[in-house]
Amino acid sequence: MKILGIESSCDETACAIVEDGRTIISNVIATQIPFHQIYNGVVPEIASRKHAEWIKPVVTEALKEADLTLDDIDAIAATNRPGLMGALLVGLTFGKTLAWATHKPFIAVNHMLGHMYAAHLANDISYPYLGLLVSGGHSIICRVNDFDDIEVLGTTIDDAVGEAFDKVAKFYGLGYPGGVIIDKLAQNGDCKAANFPMPLLKGDDHRYDVSYSGLKTAVINQLDQFWVEGYPKTNENIAAAFQETAVKILLSRLFKAVEDTGLKTVVAGGGVAANSRLRSMLAEHSEIKCVFPPLKLCTDNGAMIAGVAYHYLKRGETSPWTTTASPRIPAFKRGLARASH
Ligand code: KG4
Ligand code: ZN
Repeated sequence: MKILGIESSCDETACAIVEDGRTIISNVIATQIPFHQIYNGVVPEIASRKHAEWIKPVVTEALKEADLTLDDIDAIAATNRPGLMGALLVGLTFGKTLAWATHKPFIAVNHMLGHMYAAHLANDISYPYLGLLVSGGHSIICRVNDFDDIEVLGTTIDDAVGEAFDKVAKFYGLGYPGGVIIDKLAQNGDCKAANFPMPLLKGDDHRYDVSYSGLKTAVINQLDQFWVEGYPKTNENIAAAFQETAVKILLSRLFKAVEDTGLKTVVAGGGVAANSRLRSMLAEHSEIKCVFPPLKLCTDNGAMIAGVAYHYLKRGETSPWTTTASPRIPAFKRGLARASH
């Protein structure tokens, strides 16, 4: 079964064709980063306009790259939440229209289920496992029972981890998006240059929760207070020390979840899953099996959307034409959350 998946929730206009939820036949990602870079962050209006301009060429390119026509496609899928409303509406409306005009089933997909599924496109992974969903908008530690059955154990009480990378990079004028730039700079820095504080989240309610506002404030406003004498205050050293603590915050909570649940497989997803320090620190723990998506599938892409859609379709579940977009995901609250699409 060949599914064409469209993703337009933020600043990538993307379309992929995936066979049977696993084989990527084509994967086209048109990044808008250069258009947002000058503003040091995503400008929603620019994102919507670029999606509107690029969606048709990107879908056409995905078919061309796969050497297929629409006749060869069994179903069409698109992200419908969460994300920027205008951006989501472009891909969703395009996908629904394409499916309606070609008499094919349509499946709306929750972007976060897509990120969680990305690693499955390149690995055999069985449920249940612990999920680490880390992106610009989310920092979630979860128990994943199925592709659409995610039990959120912990989340951020303030900023998302990717957001912290982006804000620190913006403050020091390092560029956008911050994560990939800080990751690169950190490779030539020394993480011992500063001793940033770990958040103090007490109580069982916060056992798996993370917090990034304290670290962000420390790096941006209180650098001198935490700086270790003798180290030069270079961007590389700031990046390395910040990244080290940012990753440690995530892992301290993740390891508790591993211990408590007895689940020894951790699957990562989302833009921050591309982080090299997160990958190397997790690799040091041989008692845990860590699965990461390939780098190209960590950030937003259409393949993860087509992959999730395949499993809905296999169950006979499709979405009505009345399906609309939503900036949020109410299903991703703490507790048992069967995430509906
Ligand atoms: O998943 P994604 O493309 O979009 C969202 O759904 O948010 O994630 C984007 C986020 C940004 O905050 C970006 O700075 C971060 O992922 N990111 C990284 C890295 N690559 C992207 N963060 C840390 N290290 C990286 N290598
Ligand atoms: Zn994303």
